Amino acid sequence: MSPARLRPRVHGPLDALRESRDAVLAALKERDLAPRVALRSSERMAEVPDASVHLVVTSPPYPLIEMWDAQLAEQTGVPTASEEGFAASHALLSRVWAECARALAPGGILAVNVGDATRKVGGDFRCMMNHAQVARDCEALGLQSLVPILWKKPTNKPNAFLGSGFLPTNAYVTLDCEFILLFRKGGARAFAPKDPLRYASQFSKAERDAWFSQVWDVRGASQDDARTAPFPPEIPYRLVRMLSCLGDTVLDPFAGTGTTLWVARALGRRAVGYEINPDLGLEKRVPRDAPDPAQVLAALEAHYARTGGAVERPNEAAERFLAAVA
Ligand SMILES: C[S@@+](CC[C@H](N)C(=O)[O-])C[C@H]1O[C@@H](n2cnc3c(N)ncnc32)[C@H](O)[C@@H]1O
Repeated sequence: MSPARLRPRVHGPLDALRESRDAVLAALKERDLAPRVALRSSERMAEVPDASVHLVVTSPPYPLIEMWDAQLAEQTGVPTASEEGFAASHALLSRVWAECARALAPGGILAVNVGDATRKVGGDFRCMMNHAQVARDCEALGLQSLVPILWKKPTNKPNAFLGSGFLPTNAYVTLDCEFILLFRKGGARAFAPKDPLRYASQFSKAERDAWFSQVWDVRGASQDDARTAPFPPEIPYRLVRMLSCLGDTVLDPFAGTGTTLWVARALGRRAVGYEINPDLGLEKRVPRDAPDPAQVLAALEAHYARTGGAVERPNEAAERFLAAVA
């Protein structure tokens, strides 16, 4: 007998999809998967009922990063590049985290991409720890921290703060990682045994190994549009596949150009977003109608038939889903 025939057959995502196709399709057709977008502040998300969201994937304006100074100061009334500006900006973000905590279902997850800021504050070079402040604020709201992801963004840019250059002791480490902080509302999410939508949402072993490792090496999206620092599609693609199921509701309270919503819709989730800047084309980019569940399942089957579960280059899979689900 050949070694291939002796090898046990691994039951993977493609088998799960094929076995439960009809039940999954029926369950998805019952849900309203049409995306919802509101062009106003997410400090109050009145349209989102309590405990109705399964996953939040977002990236807020980063306090003390210059590109967000004016927008944050306008919202808080406090000039940004100071201790007071840092506190006021985080108080604003914290009101949004409180709304996310309210909207999350038990066991739902809040994924926040945030970077620290290197800046002169009070005349001294400082690293302003946005990730630590967001973690403190979310824990104070009763959310539980999970292991965060370090998103290493390859950069060709020399460090703006070289400090003393080649001489100790006043040279500075380059800030080339951002955080993807993960928080959960209470304990692990409960599912009915053999829930078809959960089983049809499974990933392969290779995907699991890559996505659940703590350091992600994914190039940032090109910043042609310097007004909003969009996600590369790979970031919401991974987070949505890792942390939600087909048919779930995914919220982005700082939707920007709508990358999270666009990707979540193509993955058969209900996407909900808030954004205060009406000039980003968000409403044009995210289709208003629900995705066709048959197209979503066909795209998933085609993904696993093509890759056999192997991991492709960043953005490739996400872009294929975006193209396949009209
Ligand atoms: C880092 S960008 C998000 C980019 C997004 N991930 C994308 O892929 O395009 C942060 C966004 O939050 C928006 N924003 C700032 N304050 C807000 C608020 N109070 N409510 C809703 N959106 C807000 C900004 O206008 C900006 O577009």
